[in-house]
Amino acid sequence: MAKKKTTFECQTCGSRYPKWQGRCPDCGGWNTMSEITLVSDKPASRTWTGSGTGEAVPLDSVDGGNEPRFTSTIKELDRALGGGIVEGSAVLVGGDPGIGKSTLLLQLLQGLGRNGLKTLYISGEESPRQIRMRADRLGGPPEKLLVQSEVDVERIIASLEKHSPAVAVIDSVQTLASAEISGSPGTVSQVRETTARLVSWSKAKGMPVFLVGHVTKDGAIAGPRVLEHMVDTVLYFEGDKGHPFRILRAVKNRFGSTNEVGVFEMSEGGLLQVDNPSALLLSERPQSAPGSAVVPCLEGTRTLLVEVQALVSPQAFATSQRTTYGAERSRVQILLALMDRRLDYAMVNHDVFVSVAGGMSLTEPAGDLGLMAAIASAYLDKPLPNDTVYFGEIGLAGEVRAVSRPDERVAEAAKLGFKRAVMAAGQAEKTPPPKGFELVGVKGLEELAEIL
Ligand code: TYD
Ligand code: MG
Repeated sequence: MAKKKTTFECQTCGSRYPKWQGRCPDCGGWNTMSEITLVSDKPASRTWTGSGTGEAVPLDSVDGGNEPRFTSTIKELDRALGGGIVEGSAVLVGGDPGIGKSTLLLQLLQGLGRNGLKTLYISGEESPRQIRMRADRLGGPPEKLLVQSEVDVERIIASLEKHSPAVAVIDSVQTLASAEISGSPGTVSQVRETTARLVSWSKAKGMPVFLVGHVTKDGAIAGPRVLEHMVDTVLYFEGDKGHPFRILRAVKNRFGSTNEVGVFEMSEGGLLQVDNPSALLLSERPQSAPGSAVVPCLEGTRTLLVEVQALVSPQAFATSQRTTYGAERSRVQILLALMDRRLDYAMVNHDVFVSVAGGMSLTEPAGDLGLMAAIASAYLDKPLPNDTVYFGEIGLAGEVRAVSRPDERVAEAAKLGFKRAVMAAGQAEKTPPPKGFELVGVKGLEELAEIL
């Protein structure tokens, strides 16, 4: 018998090498190589009948109208998709295991089924029985929702051909396999090639397909990152498993804006749409507690009010600790250094803990002012006023800078009953305050400290 040919493939970037190496020369990942058996890979058919016309035409003669779309029956999902499901589009839904991807997509098919559409849910992870049990929790399966347990991509395509559903869900790309491709299921080459086949098939047939992809923080399994260029839309389902709050974020969308987010709450009966996320996020906020500040931050076209909490305690060990959840640690360190230098707050010999409530994350620079207000309030052990929000970027010279869309931030705060916003001075002058709402401009840290 001929010796089996093997090669070593990096499970992060997909590069192949004849020999094992500790570090991938391509992407720099450590210990990412695994040995795979080579079979002659047939490349996926590259006939993308979906969008190619093959001829150059004058641009002004091209139809510039919107793609035909239909509703997913879930308003928040429609919003993240940019207004509904586009015919023949491939949507990748990524996220940590257990975050709720399968739940969301089963709810999607159930909603479509109730609208009379035929749908097909293909799972390589769960048995039809398990899916049925979940469907019962989510309000019972409608007619015309087919389920199939399958991992072989050729058989999946055959099944899609046979039933031609209006929408199909493939859960998950990590379980897909094909005997014609090197490597075991879940390796980069398998995930990439099987997905390419499915996507080009769905394009050719004009059938929308939703693909589930797991990501892990260290990228140990073949993550959907290598697939992002193959699909039309990439949605990330984010949140903290300990909290019910979930955000569905569009990170790529050929048919819409990538700024859109849908907001959900995980409950006993599946995912619920959240119409007023700010109210939910602030529902457990302690009143008059030191170290708590509210920041209006932008999530796509939405404004969410999030609560930042800080705890400052005398240094416990030889080096002071800085721990953050939901806020960037380096950002917090800069703010602490500024407070140390400019405000004479002895941050150096204090441990500082910062957390953003509800499992949210505060990545915008506009959160600086709120972070600093929360830390200062914790340090001084004085609560901030309950009816005030804070937003603005803080520069290294201690100046407070303008941020985008102040009017929307102020409007959201006013809607939830806040009465004051502390913000950059230049911006406070230009923004018209809502009725009964006060805008307090600050130029620099010293002014902020005075207010506190
Ligand atoms: P799941 O959709 O299986 O996650 P993923 O497909 O992203 O791995 O969701 C799993 C979690 O959701 C699990 O911890 C249980 C929880 N859950 C609920 O809280 N309520 C529900 O109605 C359902 C179906 C799941
Ligand atoms: Mg799942």
